[in-house]
Amino acid sequence: MKQRYGLGTPSVLALVILALLAQSTLAQATEPLVQKALELFFGNTANATADGELLAMLDVAITMPLLKLNGTLKKLPELDEHGASDCVRSLIQFGEEGRDSTAAWAQMLGAFYTSRVANITTGPPDMFGLRQAFPVIRRVAMAQLVKAWLTRWQRQVPSELEAPLQQLFREFYEAHRVVAIRKGIMEYFHISKAGGTSWCHAAKNNGCRAQVYDSAYICQIGQFDDRVRWLNNSFHAQRTGRGARWGTWGRPKRATDMTTCEQRFEFAAALGYQYFSNEYTLHEGFEDPDNVGTCPQFFNVILVRDPLKRLLSHLKFVTMQMKWDYRNNTLFHNTFTGTDSAFWEEFGPVLVDNYMLRGMLGETVYHYPIGGIGAKQVAHGRAILQQYDLVVDLEAGHDVLDDVIELGVGWPHTLREIHDKDSTKAAKLLNLTYEDYLPTDIQRLFEKQGPDVEFYRFGRVLVRLDTLLFHVARGLGVQPLAATRLAELAERGPEAIKCGLLRRGPRQLNSTEREWQPNEYADRVNAEMKAAREEAHRRFAQRAARAKASKLAKAAAAAAQAAEAAANAVVAAADAVSRQQQGGTRRRALLSVDGEGVEAKAAAAGPSWGQLEGRKEEAGRDGGGVRRAMPGMMEALGRTGARQLRRVRRRVSGEAGLDRRLALELGLEGVAEEGKEQDEGEDYGVHVGHGGLYDVYEEL
Ligand SMILES: *[C@@H]1O[C@H](CO)[C@@H](O)[C@H](O)[C@H]1NC(C)=O
Ligand SMILES: *[C@@H]1O[C@H](CO)[C@@H](O)[C@H](O)[C@H]1NC(C)=O
Ligand SMILES: *[C@@H]1O[C@H](CO)[C@@H](O)[C@H](O)[C@H]1NC(C)=O
Ligand SMILES: *[C@@H]1O[C@H](CO)[C@@H](O)[C@H](O)[C@H]1NC(C)=O
Ligand SMILES: *[C@@H]1O[C@H](CO)[C@@H](O)[C@H](O)[C@H]1NC(C)=O
Ligand SMILES: *[C@@H]1O[C@H](CO)[C@@H](O)[C@H](O)[C@H]1NC(C)=O
Ligand SMILES: *[C@@H]1O[C@H](CO)[C@@H](O)[C@H](O)[C@H]1NC(C)=O
Repeated sequence: MKQRYGLGTPSVLALVILALLAQSTLAQATEPLVQKALELFFGNTANATADGELLAMLDVAITMPLLKLNGTLKKLPELDEHGASDCVRSLIQFGEEGRDSTAAWAQMLGAFYTSRVANITTGPPDMFGLRQAFPVIRRVAMAQLVKAWLTRWQRQVPSELEAPLQQLFREFYEAHRVVAIRKGIMEYFHISKAGGTSWCHAAKNNGCRAQVYDSAYICQIGQFDDRVRWLNNSFHAQRTGRGARWGTWGRPKRATDMTTCEQRFEFAAALGYQYFSNEYTLHEGFEDPDNVGTCPQFFNVILVRDPLKRLLSHLKFVTMQMKWDYRNNTLFHNTFTGTDSAFWEEFGPVLVDNYMLRGMLGETVYHYPIGGIGAKQVAHGRAILQQYDLVVDLEAGHDVLDDVIELGVGWPHTLREIHDKDSTKAAKLLNLTYEDYLPTDIQRLFEKQGPDVEFYRFGRVLVRLDTLLFHVARGLGVQPLAATRLAELAERGPEAIKCGLLRRGPRQLNSTEREWQPNEYADRVNAEMKAAREEAHRRFAQRAARAKASKLAKAAAAAAQAAEAAANAVVAAADAVSRQQQGGTRRRALLSVDGEGVEAKAAAAGPSWGQLEGRKEEAGRDGGGVRRAMPGMMEALGRTGARQLRRVRRRVSGEAGLDRRLALELGLEGVAEEGKEQDEGEDYGVHVGHGGLYDVYEEL
């Protein structure tokens, strides 16, 4: 016993010594992950132009919190948290004294994050902690680091700083990760034509509970009225005599009682959603645009894109959709050939005048007149963007997107695997080339997007700062979900992924239970989604039936016309025959053919196929005139046409409770009323393909 003890002690000691040795060699040989990532995202050689531009944007990020501290910016919820403004002040002081990006600086930040948000060393995260990851402060620090690297350090991280920086990155990432789990609901701000459809598709692939995944992947919560207001319906009606899809420009107020962040969160949490998207504007800025912002209750995500590409894509998309909606090429050509910027500034003001900033800054700014967006809005938009939990740049390429999506949201299924409809593909189906329909002076429109371009320049730098963090975190082997490795999760379906970091789903604002509230909503929400899908299927089937009926009706009308002409020809021929015969028998026989049964009664416009056949036989025996008349009629009708005619007539006359819309499309009643319905310019809330060419219901 004693001997064993004696043997045991030295071996334990040896282990301890070994471990200490290993640690110190590790520390000495810390792999320069931060250095490598900085080179990867910020270039390994100096370039005065690119670096100058970058430094200017870094300074914007570094000084942004000052806007709140000196009263220029009204709202920055993160700085209202205990200790946050002190932290920011000391960060800025570190910077002014040239002592930022040092070990002391990293320690100060680490202490703030670990004590306020999540402490890596204390085991599983406390799910009830603060729901604020301080992304503004984090980006100030990251911007200081990159600035130091570009200037003081001449693109080389001092070797003794690599380890403390890696530790800081771990702490930053832990804060981000844990807060995402605590929040449990993502509000995705969908800047139109910047990848929103794909993002919604990705949410579905990663198993997020949303209100509904429809064919167009809009992913909104219907009750919030977060729908686009793109087009001026009365302008469109004057030009075309019909209503426009998305024609709700000029109706700034949301049609909802839930306008505050608190109301929105309570609703989404009560329904157990993990994901929704908003394609209109940010919140609480209707009365006072200075008060606008994201809702800090949600995990906020935004995708940005080059504004000029976005603008072009938006013009093409609207043009294509109008061609589809009109189903009248003459009208389409008349309306869109040779348009200019002035046309679009009236038709879709928001589309062509700094669309990104308008959405960021609330309903009122969204509806500012052309030219109303300037430097003040750029500064405000940038300040809001820096507060996002996650900023994604659609232009950044898939390697960056994968880092941001996998580490930032814990979604193993990224945009890489999604090929959503794009307007080029869709336009091909519509046989549409855009040259003739884009504004002739499109360059003029491009030149007016300065504010959006400035906003985007800043956004790209924020994305690079975030990517730096996520890339290093990945290099450190950090996993978004401690229990399951990302690679393993990627092999599994949506049910296993459960929306990645948002897997626990929402917790009520006032919940005080120590246990994480069991998500009793899951089943209900899944049932709701299923019901919504079935409803969508049903509506799709209905639309398909209507479209088919309408086609049949057209064929029937043509057939009836032809039949009438043919019948007249038969009668004329019979007349001729009877005149020739100078007797009345045959003529009387022909004219006395009377309708038998439903078919004949419904066929008020002309005799039925069968009857005509009979007449042909009868009259044809002698009458060459009738024989000559028949081929024309047969050509017009054809056997299929005749069958269709009979089918449609049976339906029209026979079925009680015929769908009114079917009746409308068959031209049986109130076509004028149908037109009026369209003229209200409702936002149909959907994109190309509802009931059209690009439905993807089969994918659900
Ligand atoms: C320097 O950066 C500018 C702007 O990004 C770029 O156009 C230029 O090609 C770069 N020059 C070199 C030598 O890489
Ligand atoms: C507030 O701080 C910002 C950023 O440093 C600065 O641009 C602005 O002029 C300041 N405004 C006031 C009123 O001091
Ligand atoms: C994190 O937790 C460890 C272990 O409990 C503790 O020693 C440390 O002080 C904590 N750090 C902060 C900043 O709270
Ligand atoms: C829409 O266009 C019409 C006709 O051009 C114009 O009178 C009206 O002011 C526009 N509405 C809005 C909200 O801009
Ligand atoms: C198509 O539009 C033109 C021009 O507005 C109109 O004259 C024509 O009647 C329309 N055709 C149909 C089938 O509605
Ligand atoms: C497409 O347009 C071309 C040129 O106008 C025409 O020749 C062709 O028939 C069209 N194809 C379809 C499918 O409409
Ligand atoms: C949360 O608290 C607020 C204010 O006390 C209350 O109005 C609301 O109904 C509560 N929500 C739930 C889900 O209990």
